[in-house]
Amino acid sequence: MNFQDPLFWRAGAVSTTLVMLVVLAFLTIDSYNYISVGGRNVPKYDVINQEIGYKYDWARSADTPVIGGPQPLFGKVVTEAEATRLMEKGKLVIQSRNCFNCHTFLGNGAYYGPDLTKSWLDPAWSQIWMPMTGKATREDAMVEFLMHPDKYPTWSREMPNMHLSEDEARATVAYLKWLSSIDTNGFPAGFGRLNPQ
Ligand code: HEC
Repeated sequence: MNFQDPLFWRAGAVSTTLVMLVVLAFLTIDSYNYISVGGRNVPKYDVINQEIGYKYDWARSADTPVIGGPQPLFGKVVTEAEATRLMEKGKLVIQSRNCFNCHTFLGNGAYYGPDLTKSWLDPAWSQIWMPMTGKATREDAMVEFLMHPDKYPTWSREMPNMHLSEDEARATVAYLKWLSSIDTNGFPAGFGRLNPQ
C-alpha cells in the first residue's frame, strides 16, 4: 500500500461512494416501506371503514394505533377506490383553503389552531361539539363544525368560515379519520388524553 500514490486515494473515494450509494438506496426503500399508503405505519385509505383506537406502547414510549372492528364513516362502507377518491378530494380541500396557515398536519403547518393530525380522536367532538351541534355522530358533528365553525366556537381563538360545501366537508372528515390511523410514533404527544384546548 502506497499512501503517496494518488491512485490509492482515488480507489478509496470511488469504493466509499459506491458503498454509500447502496446504503442510501436501501434506506430509501426501507423508508418507503414505512411511509407509503398501505406500508407499515400508514394504513390503506379504506381504514375509514373501521374503528380507530389507541393504546400506549410502553416499549416504544408512544401511543400506537389500534385498528378495531367495523365502524363505517357516515354509516356507509366504502370500497378502496371510493376511499381513494374521498382522500384526493379531502386533500384538495385542505390545500385549496390553506388550512396549513393555522393548523398542523403530520408536523407541517402552523399552531394558530389545534394540531389536526389526530383531530378525529379529539374527545371534544363527543363531549362538546356533538351536544352543541345536536348531531348524533362524531362525523356529522365534524361536518357541521367544518361548514359553520363560526357558529360553534369553543376556544379563545375562532376558526373563520372557510365556505366548505357539504361534500367538501365530508371528504375532509374522511381524510382526517384516515390521518388519525397513521402510526406517527406518538406525535403529537399526549393527544387523546390531553385536550390542548
Ligand atoms: C384562520 C385560521 C384557521 C384556518 C384558516 C382554519 N382553521 Fe380550523 N381552527 C382554527 C381555530 C382557531 C380552531 C379552534 C376553534 C374552536 O375550538 O372553537 C380550529 C378548529 C378546527 C378543528 C377542530 C379541531 C379540534 O380537534 O379541536 C378542525 C377539524 C379544523 N379546524 C379544520 C380546519 C380545516 C379543514 C381548515 C381548512 C378548510 C381549517 N380548519 C382552516 C383556525 C383555523
